[in-house]
Amino acid sequence: MQAPVTFFDDLNSDFIAQIDALKASTVFILVDENTQQHCLPLLPKEFVKKATLISIQAGEENKNLTSCQKIWDALQSSYADRETLLINLGGGMVTDLGGFVAATYKRGIRFINIPTTLMGMVDAAIGGKTGINFNKIKNQIGSFSQPQMVVVYKDFLRTLPDREFTSALAEVIKYQLLTEEISNLNALFSKYKNYSILPTLISTCIAIKQRVCEEDFKESNHRKMLNLGHTSGHAIESFLMDKGVSILHGEAVAAGLVVAIYLSNLKTGLHQNFIDYYLSKIDEVYGKLPLLKEDIPALISYMHHDKKNAGNEIKFVLLRNIGDPVIDVSVSEMEITYALNFYIG
Ligand SMILES: NC(=O)c1ccc[n+]([C@@H]2O[C@H](COP(=O)([O-])OP(=O)(O)OC[C@H]3O[C@@H](n4cnc5c(N)ncnc54)[C@H](O)[C@@H]3O)[C@@H](O)[C@H]2O)c1
Repeated sequence: MQAPVTFFDDLNSDFIAQIDALKASTVFILVDENTQQHCLPLLPKEFVKKATLISIQAGEENKNLTSCQKIWDALQSSYADRETLLINLGGGMVTDLGGFVAATYKRGIRFINIPTTLMGMVDAAIGGKTGINFNKIKNQIGSFSQPQMVVVYKDFLRTLPDREFTSALAEVIKYQLLTEEISNLNALFSKYKNYSILPTLISTCIAIKQRVCEEDFKESNHRKMLNLGHTSGHAIESFLMDKGVSILHGEAVAAGLVVAIYLSNLKTGLHQNFIDYYLSKIDEVYGKLPLLKEDIPALISYMHHDKKNAGNEIKFVLLRNIGDPVIDVSVSEMEITYALNFYIG
């Protein structure tokens, strides 16, 4: 069962009533330094006053064991018990990390995700995947664990930096490539933070993700499609992070989508007409990441760590057509090299 997602126009009595209904012994709120500054003040003051705050450093580089330890420590030293509720108030970094901490503290306490980024609302807070990065590889340690609920309040996005907003659009393009269900893609690209289309956009993305995860929660089959663009995207993200380059998850996924589209044309017959539209849009919005041809062997080596692989083969999600994904396509290192060469140019 997927966690219920509730959309709120304000975070007052209904919100508090829903949390009270969980009858938690104590409530902890996990924030990073930015969500502490910008998002915590939007929660009801009385509610925040009664909770215990745990604050961690922002940034993907902190989605790690050290941060987990800090949170476990804070929970333990404040006597959190099995009936404690952890509220993850933040983007995908906070909900991935907080969800994992909750899933493992005393063998599992309840948690709620309150996504504050577009990436969190359309993707990360939904679907029950939690985890951390380990030994410089993305999401190596984690669990499938559902929050009690996901709270969507789009006014959090008012303080979100434009670069973060644009980064999340890569996941929206991914949903469109997988399902053809996103309307207004052009409006989205031409007017960033177009608030009038956000409610429909967010609810459509959530509905797609929940539907897919409902059918295959543990990603043994169908759910793998949501990894479109992520095999090379995660490799690019890990590689650039390791080099100290500032890279956002969605920016790496956008590059990964280019690689997947190229390979779909090569291997699963995606028609050239579709390719041109999406490639030019992605190029227009994201430009090119600082990758060189000599980085390709290292990128391929990162791809070997992808969780979808079996044995030594690298598996991709590709497209036969827009709205028609194919999972588990084995792609040779030579074909990946062609595709990365195409991206790097
Ligand atoms: N579990 C999943 O299914 C899933 C899906 C997609 C992505 N992810 C993960 O999500 C992470 C990326 O998530 P993200 O893009 O939300 O990044 P993030 O959580 O790092 O947030 C991006 C930045 O925005 C700041 N921020 C958050 N909300 C803000 C607000 N309202 N106003 C101002 N600043 C704000 C954060 O402090 C951070 O600096 C990655 O770790 C990725 O692997 C997980």
